[in-house]
Amino acid sequence: MGTAVSSAAGDSGEVVHPGHPVVPGPILLLGAPGVGKGTQAKELVKLWGIPQISTGDLLRSHRDRGTELGKLANELMLQGKLVPDTLVNDMVAARLVEPDTRNGFILDGFPRTIPQAQWLDNWLAEHCNALPVVAVSIQVDYTRLLRRITGRRNCPVCQTIYNIYLQPPRIEGVCDVEGATLVQRSDDTEMCFDGRMRTYDTLTAPVIEHYRGLSRFAEVNGDQPVADVAAGIVSSVERLRA
Ligand code: AP5
Ligand code: MG
Repeated sequence: MGTAVSSAAGDSGEVVHPGHPVVPGPILLLGAPGVGKGTQAKELVKLWGIPQISTGDLLRSHRDRGTELGKLANELMLQGKLVPDTLVNDMVAARLVEPDTRNGFILDGFPRTIPQAQWLDNWLAEHCNALPVVAVSIQVDYTRLLRRITGRRNCPVCQTIYNIYLQPPRIEGVCDVEGATLVQRSDDTEMCFDGRMRTYDTLTAPVIEHYRGLSRFAEVNGDQPVADVAAGIVSSVERLRA
């Protein structure tokens, strides 16, 4: 398990949280498309050694394997619509019972509707006699999100996330870690982005209000360097777990 948020982000190497004692427990990363949920989840994985559970990544894996769920998900993703709650909840339930979630997990992109949030609250109450959930909402001005989405490129091997404008790889189009050719998500177009944002405003923004009403909720400014956002999330979790 890593211990340095800033070195994990690849900049100064300064150790921000040496030997961090927090048992992270269940953590939700909430926020609009492109705010940095996936980027931040990967930082927290390095720091805490708990898994990132991204429903978007799980659905894309179904799509790539050609399952029935994957075929449906692909159609909906390209329209910026959500996959039906029960299908996503079942998929998450199957992932949450895997042994690597014992000390906690980072849910990235779930819950995205009020019924999903209610399902998760009930599931955790029934299955997790450990720590209550901590919800962190990452906020970035909407006007900056389109550039983040259309500029995003991913490594198909190690899943490292880049941005051709904001976080470019050392060699254009090539992953710094694996040397693989970077790919662009099929829903990372301006047209899909409009649909995704409409869906977010209608169905997902109320989820943030749901968790704001509970005691373990924090907002973090996502419009800062990756290491600073990560440090903000870590200190919020630390405070809310104290
Ligand atoms: P999903 O894959 O979850 O997409 P999303 O929510 O739209 O979020 P993104 O992955 O686009 O953004 P992100 O916040 O992870 O940002 P990232 O770190 O990559 O879902 C896709 C689809 O699957 C949905 O539309 C839906 O159809 C379906 N789905 C998923 N979950 C579902 C659910 N629960 N229920 C029903 N359907 C579901 O960063 C973005 C870019 O910004 C990158 O290029 C990155 O390099 C850059 N960046 C990040 N942080 C910074 C920073 N601090 N400074 C500068 N650049 C930064
Ligand atoms: Mg993501």
